Amino acid sequence: MVKILIVYYSLGGNTKVAAEEVAEGCRQQEANVIVKIGTEATEKDLIECDGIVIGSPDYFSYMAGGLKDFFDRTFYPSQGKVTGKPCVMFVTHGGGGKAVDSLESMCKWFKFKKVAEPLLIKNRPSPSDKIKLRELGALLVSAIKK
Ligand SMILES: Cc1cc2nc3c(=O)[nH]c(=O)nc-3n(C[C@H](O)[C@H](O)[C@H](O)COP(=O)(O)O)c2cc1C
Repeated sequence: MVKILIVYYSLGGNTKVAAEEVAEGCRQQEANVIVKIGTEATEKDLIECDGIVIGSPDYFSYMAGGLKDFFDRTFYPSQGKVTGKPCVMFVTHGGGGKAVDSLESMCKWFKFKKVAEPLLIKNRPSPSDKIKLRELGALLVSAIKK
């Protein structure tokens, strides 16, 4: 079974709602999904997954500190072990969304393989956003199965 790690952070709940929708999309494709906040996800979670979803709110045009913590802790221990790992990203924002650049940058640092353009969601996901988020999760699982 395809194993997906969703690592995100959320203070106000918008990004948590989004992460849960992506998880649902992955599960609809029969993936085994682990959803964790950045401060709790481990290098083992990262190394063992078949694909990763990165989700963050835009805080001051950058990813949330709680997500950055995950990348800071796992960078050296995962080097050489995650190259080419399929990855998708999403950001919730209040009207800016520039934090997406920091996610894209992290994707390059870790040498993940970006399999779709990042999804930008304004604040709490709307019903139509939720469909797109589920599709994003499903797309990641399909890309891994190919
Ligand atoms: C400390 C802080 C800084 C923020 N900075 C930005 C920003 O630079 N650009 C932007 O578009 N939205 C900004 N926002 C709005 C959030 O990105 C947006 O409401 C997001 O959906 C919050 O996600 P959360 O509910 O998961 O915490 C900021 C919110 C907070 C709390």
